[in-house]
Amino acid sequence: MRDVAPLTSIENNAAPTPGLAVLGLAPMEGVTVLPMRLWMHLASAPKSLATPFLRVTATYPNHELPRTFAPELTELRDAVPYQLVPQIMAADQADFVRIAPLFLRHAPFVELNCGCPSPTCVGSGAGSSLLRDADAFRSVIQAITSELGAERFAVKMRTGFKDDEEFTTLLSALSEHNLARLTVHGRTRPDRYKGYARWDLIELAANMAQAPVIASGDVVDIASLAHRAKIAPSVKGTIIGRGALRNPWIFAELRSGVPVNLKFSTLKLALLTHALLHELANTDMEGLFELAKTGLFHRECGTDEDRWQHVHDQLSHRLWPGATASLTAHESVDVSRVTLGRLKMLWNYLRSSLPAPFFEPAPLRAGSLPGFLTGLSAAYEASGKPVNLQLRHAAEWDWLYSGGKQQAETCPT
Ligand SMILES: Cc1cc2nc3c(=O)[nH]c(=O)nc-3n(C[C@H](O)[C@H](O)[C@H](O)COP(=O)(O)O)c2cc1C
Repeated sequence: MRDVAPLTSIENNAAPTPGLAVLGLAPMEGVTVLPMRLWMHLASAPKSLATPFLRVTATYPNHELPRTFAPELTELRDAVPYQLVPQIMAADQADFVRIAPLFLRHAPFVELNCGCPSPTCVGSGAGSSLLRDADAFRSVIQAITSELGAERFAVKMRTGFKDDEEFTTLLSALSEHNLARLTVHGRTRPDRYKGYARWDLIELAANMAQAPVIASGDVVDIASLAHRAKIAPSVKGTIIGRGALRNPWIFAELRSGVPVNLKFSTLKLALLTHALLHELANTDMEGLFELAKTGLFHRECGTDEDRWQHVHDQLSHRLWPGATASLTAHESVDVSRVTLGRLKMLWNYLRSSLPAPFFEPAPLRAGSLPGFLTGLSAAYEASGKPVNLQLRHAAEWDWLYSGGKQQAETCPT
């Protein structure tokens, strides 16, 4: 059993945990691209969403941002109501300082990635590699703040490059600057995603830094948010990554304090809409922009099937102008392998929050969108066709999304 606060303390409360606002969707490389951001907004409307990191070098990008990287800051500014947080990954502070102003024309601040643990990033001196040497980290922060101004600059970091003994020294490099915000994912680089994030260390950061501190790590439901808010009462907010993939309706749940119930047909339609969004982005980005400018993605769909149907129909009409705009008709329409891969990635997380039969691998093994949908329906049949589905965090699957089977059963903090 996890050690969590009783749900009653926050149920039916629109602001469940004073001081710990749920700010939004965490940056996720390969995940939080434009179509996914639009879809996440449709599902449960996080207040802010983050781009994945933009890896910049001495020659890339040249003088302009890639058009599809953060269009919500420019062309689609009025098309969506959420705040977009742009993130850059750079090994050299000069590259960050060169590219950041392209974002700062449109965004209040831009974030530097000091957390990515992947060998490719670290090997090239970027991501969590910036934490390797505290003195070098201090000069990077100093150089960027004097170029851009601390209030236009944000940092997202882990608690250490080798271990979290380094964290206090790293924090002291930041503490003299009033950054736009400091986001701490409470794990070290070697931790990657194993174990649990150290929210006690995030609280330490909130006490040491001048900047507002945002917490990242392991918020998966109402109870886990309440539990962690107790450990880190001084943080200003939290962002959610994997928990939002396991339950894309999590932001609505955390706002209301009430778990979401979903009809199977709504879930299926939402997943189909996810696929169509990616397919349109892959084949006709201009078309996606045009639809966005009509206001199609302005409003959250949540659990309202009619709204999902409307968005779905608009997307399918744009993709296949001649086809009948009905879900059933499109069960015979296929999408590219790339789109199917995106859908399966989402499903791989989401399935663990549903009743056991949904965890069966059939949808993941499907070679086509109709095959995926058939697998989904079979899982629903096998689950006894409940009227409502509940998306519940199931701790027994945490290891799958944390990369460590040896993970402790209980939260250590
Ligand atoms: C697939 C994946 C991609 C990620 N990509 C990024 C990234 O581009 N930039 C970043 O700062 N953090 C990235 N992260 C880390 C998350 O933003 C977050 O800090 C971490 O997953 C812990 O939060 P969670 O437990 O809510 O997932 C990524 C995490 C995952 C799982």
